[in-house]
Amino acid sequence: MESNPLEEHSQGLLPWFIAATQILGLAAVIITGVWMGYYQGGFGWDGSSLEFNVHPLCMVIGMVFLYGDSILVYRVFKNESKTTVKILHAAIHLIGLVATIVGLISVFGYHSAQNIPNMYSLHSWCGIICIILFCVQWVVGLIFFLFPGMSYSLRACYRPLHVYFGLGIFILAIGTSLLGITEKLLFSISDTYSKFVAEGVLANVLGLVLVSFGSTVVYIVTRSEWKRVSSPEEEALSMHFKTLTERDSPDSPQGS
Ligand code: HEM
Repeated sequence: MESNPLEEHSQGLLPWFIAATQILGLAAVIITGVWMGYYQGGFGWDGSSLEFNVHPLCMVIGMVFLYGDSILVYRVFKNESKTTVKILHAAIHLIGLVATIVGLISVFGYHSAQNIPNMYSLHSWCGIICIILFCVQWVVGLIFFLFPGMSYSLRACYRPLHVYFGLGIFILAIGTSLLGITEKLLFSISDTYSKFVAEGVLANVLGLVLVSFGSTVVYIVTRSEWKRVSSPEEEALSMHFKTLTERDSPDSPQGS
């Protein structure tokens, strides 16, 4: 088959876009660490504001950086077997989930130690919806894609929903982080924010870096020529799996 030079050129661009996401994602984590570690006094686990500071850092690591990276594994590891990539995708999500749970415990722990009411803000409502959807998506994805025995046609029906919710939750996580950043700035530097103080500028930059990271990840995964193409062996295996599962299904003539 003749290769299309435009397509080849576009394939060559993919590593640059992936590199850009890693620089932006790591920058977001470092800026959050500097904001909480330097401007907000550091980290702790004693019910004080230092315990709160764990929250933004864990959320940016778990719900944004690791979440984005787990979406990208299908574009980065194009030559690995599909099962290996699926396991990697689920494993990075699981590490992200652990970071998210630590971040959530820290903010609830801080609120209860300081007698601050829970779940009153728009940020907290969006945040809790985001985390619930994230957990549901992880469990349902595991059942459909990693458990053997799920029929081929059910997997094929669920796949578009998984992709839609996967990207939707990721975008919601970035929007939630922007709300959280604004809320934190208004709590801690409301008197000086309008004077362009360094902390305010740094937090604004964090917001822009998060948006840039999110848009680059979404751009990469929605470009059709960068999608993972199944190898002939995988195609043959999935056809075999399809025949096997559909022969056993109750509505097929052999299955009845
Ligand atoms: C996707 C990422 C995030 C999620 C899912 C999330 C989720 C939550 C949730 C559920 C609460 C409520 C805790 C309670 O009521 O006790 C909360 C509180 C809070 N979060 Fe986040 N958060 C995220 C990122 C951030 C970031 C990046 C910041 C930036 C500093 C931040 C700042 C805050 C603040 C100031 C509170 C306390 C006030 C409130 O309850 O709204 N959050 N977050």
